[in-house]
Amino acid sequence: MANFNLLLLPGDGIGPEVMGQVRRLIDWLNANGDDTFEVQEGLVGGCAYDAHGVSILDETVAAAQVADAVLFGAVGGPKWDDVDYDVRPEAGLLRLRKDLELFANLRPAICFPALADASSLKRELVEGLDILIVRELTGGVYFGEPKTITDIGNGQKRAIDTQVYDTYEIERISRVAFDLARKRRNKVSSSEKRNVMKSGVLWNEVVTQVHRAEYADVELEHVLADNCGMQLVRNPKQFDVIVTDNLFGDMLSDIAAMLTGSLGMLPSASLGAADPKTGKRKSLYEPVHGSAPDIAGQGLANPIAMIGSFAMALRYSLDRVALADRIEAAIAAALAKGLRTADILQDGMTQVSIGEMGDAIIEALGQKD
Ligand code: IPM
Ligand code: MG
Repeated sequence: MANFNLLLLPGDGIGPEVMGQVRRLIDWLNANGDDTFEVQEGLVGGCAYDAHGVSILDETVAAAQVADAVLFGAVGGPKWDDVDYDVRPEAGLLRLRKDLELFANLRPAICFPALADASSLKRELVEGLDILIVRELTGGVYFGEPKTITDIGNGQKRAIDTQVYDTYEIERISRVAFDLARKRRNKVSSSEKRNVMKSGVLWNEVVTQVHRAEYADVELEHVLADNCGMQLVRNPKQFDVIVTDNLFGDMLSDIAAMLTGSLGMLPSASLGAADPKTGKRKSLYEPVHGSAPDIAGQGLANPIAMIGSFAMALRYSLDRVALADRIEAAIAAALAKGLRTADILQDGMTQVSIGEMGDAIIEALGQKD
């Protein structure tokens, strides 16, 4: 029995609704489970900007630093399109990733059997799909300096983003990928653009060296990032673990997500380095989907990615693997009953609201097997 400290950052759009279902699940676990979860909430994104003029407060970042895990909903929306770049909603999320040094972003794309027909690809291409994208999250073009727009005269401006990677950043993310591959199907596909970018040349070199020195037992292949996107829609089951940089990881993980039927299904984990003394990692868990302002507040959102993110927190940060398995099984059970939120609705299935999907998952969790 343990007491865990969670920081919940629901954010904007559908963030508060999907987080609301996780809160209900946590209340249920507090009443019926072995452990207790203490929950603190904070503002991030546009709602933080509305309240404080910044996308996250220092004290919220400090709370995130000491939490056993951070659960994050989604940020952004058209309401904040015109706010200053430095305080735009996304800046709050990027600051959390950077300040907590959450360099490893794990984005599993798993196709639930019940949803194989909801994918835009044919059933046989996606049925049984289980791939893991390991995205570098604190480097590359997201954070490289300079990052500027300057006036260069004659009515012209110049925009610069900087793609930059040091050896150690590539080493540590590739170790995460190889370690995870060993627990799966033992294959890593490393993706970059070495044919055009120096950062791709170094990425390729370093991954190859780490592989040779420490992980020769794992199968490694190198796939150019454009080809990787194509292969993901041609034959996704050829992949096990894909390791890639921050920007390619952003794009490839959206592609991989859609293979599974809906962006509303996929959780993610962002992890820091293991503390040398305790072995613990700082961590943040968030759905891959965004704030979906067009459907916010209507009960239409799919809570599965957010609930799955909580299950990932149990698995990777709280060492409650059996409970994580049970929650994932409860999600599968709710789907197997034919219940569907609007985003994954198909003929012959029953459309349910976000709250009804939450009910069904909690009910399935409560059933003794
Ligand atoms: C993601 C999102 C973010 C990113 C945005 C919201 C800044 O697209 O987590 O994939 O680009 O990393
Ligand atoms: Mg993205």
